[in-house]
Amino acid sequence: MSGPKFPPQANDPFSSVPQNSDPAGTDQAREQPAAKGITRRGFLKGAGVAAAGTALLEGAQVFTREAAAATRGKHDGVKEFGPGAVPVTLHVNGKEHTLQIEPRTTLADALRVHLGMTGTKVVCDRGPCSGCTVLMDDMPVNSCMTLAMDAIGRRVTTIEGLSKNTGNQDELHPVQAAFVKHDAMQCGFCTPGMVMTCSALLKKNPNPTEDDVRQATAGNLCRCGTYPRIFAATLEAAGVSGKESIRNA
Ligand code: FES
Ligand code: FES
Repeated sequence: MSGPKFPPQANDPFSSVPQNSDPAGTDQAREQPAAKGITRRGFLKGAGVAAAGTALLEGAQVFTREAAAATRGKHDGVKEFGPGAVPVTLHVNGKEHTLQIEPRTTLADALRVHLGMTGTKVVCDRGPCSGCTVLMDDMPVNSCMTLAMDAIGRRVTTIEGLSKNTGNQDELHPVQAAFVKHDAMQCGFCTPGMVMTCSALLKKNPNPTEDDVRQATAGNLCRCGTYPRIFAATLEAAGVSGKESIRNA
């Protein structure tokens, strides 16, 4: 009766016993898997790659150190700030404010966190929505993308500084008043940025067309879709017809 031989024989093709035809120990024999599946050759190859990687890393570190040394030499005489807090004076809404801030602080954070002017909204905090618009020397800028240090020596105007204080109460800027009249907001998150952009437009172009308003506010995103009322309000503030646009926003 033929059947499986037990224990398995070395010359049995279905046996899991290694068929070592070279008991004296040739290369092939040495390649047989070790207990944990690593061969001696594989181990030596891996060690070689690791050594090469270490050499490359060391080379890169030397290069970085040399580049840093060269840069230091070039910047001699240039004043460096930080990384800790440094005193910075900002001119905001007609007043000077001296703050102690890290050089990496954005203008939005300097206004909101350090000066408590939370009228400026940070919506996306990465550039595309312009909800954080303030004016720097009458130019609209995204304050979340501007370093506070870059505003040194510039006139910064925020939504808080747009109205005029006339004795006991603030008199709204014409754009603010027109936004209220036309109900040109829903959630209101985009509104301070919109108002700043539209007020900058009217300062530069007191008689804008609707296309001018559309172009000026093209970078200001309103997720609530209040655009027709925003255009109408801005045109009314300019003294142009404030009829609500029925064109697609
Ligand atoms: S919050 Fe600054 S661009 Fe959106
Ligand atoms: S009113 Fe809500 S985003 Fe413009």
